[in-house]
Amino acid sequence: MGSPSDQIVVRRVGELKGLVDVPGAKNSVLKLMAATILADGTYELSNVPAIVDVASMGDLLAAIGVRSESTEPGRLTLTNAGDLEPVAPYELVERIRASVNVLGPLLTRCGRVRLSMPGGDDFGARPIDMHVDGLEKMGAEFKFSHGELEATADRLHGADIVFGFPSVGATENIVTAAVYADGVTTIENAAREPEVVDLCEMLRSMGADITGIGTSRLVVRGVERGSLRPVRHRTVPDRIQAATYVAAVAVAGGELTIRDARAEHMENLLGRFAEMGLELSVEPGVLHVVAQGRLRSIDVQTLPYPGIATDYKPLVITMLSVADDVGIVTENLYPGRFRYVEELLRLGADVRTTGHHAVVRGVPRLSGAPVRAHDIRAGAAMVVAGLAAEGETVISGVAHIDRGYDDLVGRLASVGADIVRV
Ligand code: UD1
Repeated sequence: MGSPSDQIVVRRVGELKGLVDVPGAKNSVLKLMAATILADGTYELSNVPAIVDVASMGDLLAAIGVRSESTEPGRLTLTNAGDLEPVAPYELVERIRASVNVLGPLLTRCGRVRLSMPGGDDFGARPIDMHVDGLEKMGAEFKFSHGELEATADRLHGADIVFGFPSVGATENIVTAAVYADGVTTIENAAREPEVVDLCEMLRSMGADITGIGTSRLVVRGVERGSLRPVRHRTVPDRIQAATYVAAVAVAGGELTIRDARAEHMENLLGRFAEMGLELSVEPGVLHVVAQGRLRSIDVQTLPYPGIATDYKPLVITMLSVADDVGIVTENLYPGRFRYVEELLRLGADVRTTGHHAVVRGVPRLSGAPVRAHDIRAGAAMVVAGLAAEGETVISGVAHIDRGYDDLVGRLASVGADIVRV
């Protein structure tokens, strides 16, 4: 996957044309991997993206006692031999935010966990108070010291948990913890993201008793500890990677067929893209996009699913930066997640940010320059911006892109983009 000093060089060549496949979702597969802690045996995950975060989660699980091996591209075999060490050390945890997803499975399976506080993307504080409050309601006790949390629970019990906000990670941790708890756990205002649904469906095929999947009220009836079994499971396609290819053709122009894009997971976003002037048509598992002429500006706000995801935002701002007129983008999930805007300014975009808002005045064309990827999605947005910029855009910080994108460069090159990794 290359070295940290790698760069991506993009030149504007005009229209993109052809077919791209969408790999499995990072934000799902990492949680599916963590769920293998729950039951002994060998699991097989398919549609696994070739991304660095999968390797990082594999290293973390190896330290805990679950071995993973990729036998062929897109397939990952994980073996839980039952002898688990419920400790997640700092050097492994700090690489990915999703490492916090081992908390629920380890606690319910082993009755104790030591976990360093999670790292991940560089966009502000990401507390885990909702995870902790929920698990405390289920009978867990927590101690925090030296950047580490220690949780213990001889036996978790069901509880009625009401979230103030539909947190993805907290929903996932509570659901996985509840599968072996005594009695019934209900989560009100649960997250409904397709990746949460994917995890719940895998848990259900393992033998967990979960109802309300895909709704904001999840009900988990605990089953006997040790009664779950390993499964084969296909990872849900990545709606954020799919949206990246839509954004690419939107700014470059042309026509793309995006295979394995699940339009039903992107309904709101695609509706807004149509307002911007994209012609979209959907067949089962396939999205066709035709982009002709200049995009029109719209106002967008990020919201929990089914709203427009915060992870789409750098792509949307990049599209607006070359659209006709002015668009206002409001971030409702992560205050201050606008760091990449400085990089867009270097490319000649006209974007002003105040607090939660970005005001984007479209310019006819960007102009290539050296820029840096600050996180996964912002990095992909820089690549998309490069497709709309005269001359050469050189992106450093490519390691961020590798964390979440499976061969972005190869996929874009295959549909006519002038893009190389050096
Ligand atoms: C996941 C995704 C991330 C995406 C986000 C929102 C993964 C690995 N990451 O992150 O790409 O941007 O969902 O769709 O799946 N919060 C609290 N207390 C908590 C938990 C969350 O205050 O205990 C806040 C967070 O700081 C943030 C907001 O709630 O402001 C959303 O967080 P959450 O939905 O939990 O996102 P993650 O699971 O961290």
